[in-house]
Amino acid sequence: MDITKRPRRLRSDGVRPLISETALSPADLIAPVFVDATADERVPIESMPGHERVPVDGIVERVQEVRETGVEAVMLFGIPAEKDEQGTQAWVDDGVVQRALRRISEETDAYAIADLCFCEYTTHGHCGVVEEDAKEDPRQTVDNDATLELIERTALSQARAGADMIAPSGMMDGMVGTIRDALDREGFTEVPIMSYAVKYESAFYGPFRDAADGAPAFGDRRHYQMDPANRQEAVREARLDIEQGADVLMVKPALPYLDIVRDVRETTDLPVAAYNVSGEYAMLHAASEKGWLDLEEVARESLLSIKRAGADLILTYFAESIASECSAGR
Ligand code: PBG
Ligand code: ZN
Repeated sequence: MDITKRPRRLRSDGVRPLISETALSPADLIAPVFVDATADERVPIESMPGHERVPVDGIVERVQEVRETGVEAVMLFGIPAEKDEQGTQAWVDDGVVQRALRRISEETDAYAIADLCFCEYTTHGHCGVVEEDAKEDPRQTVDNDATLELIERTALSQARAGADMIAPSGMMDGMVGTIRDALDREGFTEVPIMSYAVKYESAFYGPFRDAADGAPAFGDRRHYQMDPANRQEAVREARLDIEQGADVLMVKPALPYLDIVRDVRETTDLPVAAYNVSGEYAMLHAASEKGWLDLEEVARESLLSIKRAGADLILTYFAESIASECSAGR
């Protein structure tokens, strides 16, 4: 046989980098950080090796650690001192995230993104105001429109505290438009919104819910987060958030949903973010602890795949370790 077309010609060491289509850069990564109003020292998160909840007093140091690796952006999650039915601590002026945001914006050059949700702040652990008969009737959970009011308050208090970007994660209909209106009305026209536009009701959030103490006390989130079976609906969700003024669209989780990352990429010319979630992180760690996988290699391959699928930016618990490798020239 006469083989004239030989793809292997382009796989030799000298030429591989020249034709490489995808690259990872620390500039594309966002590191999630957990700030805890109940802690006065760092508390390791068992199911997320290498991650800790840090006290408000330690947030600047934590953010500086991230920046030293070359990652400039952090996503802030808060663990409040107390919880109630409404999630009041999410929007009060001296809430845990608000205090952390003030410190970060005054004392660092980091780009601080505020996650906006209520599950860490409510006694019932749902992402908004729970309907009256929710406990008796499993078909009821979160009151969408009542939650929008709280979302508005929270977005404004985060912006006032110095959030560079607001990232609503509760999957309420109309959340992006509500936040955009409120921010613009109060003069925060330059604060972008990264919407968790396409967020699935996924079992891969387990370790995060332990970390942030935000598991629902009853029922689950299937009445507001998306059904993992659905693909067309992801495009619909993305379009709605575009119409409402989102600046960045996120898909979450990432690895089990790379088809969706690609779909959203092809739906919009906005930047697309993907959230490589806690379960995706924990499973690679667990396998590597057993000696079954090489952690550094599988982490890198995972993030590369997420970029190749179409993500411009990646939220990942691997941000610091991958960025350090990039700076070391690997
Ligand atoms: C809360 C929220 C969750 C995550 C980010 N924000 C959990 C959930 O929806 O239950 C998951 C992040 C992760 O697993 O890394 N709205
Ligand atoms: Zn939530």
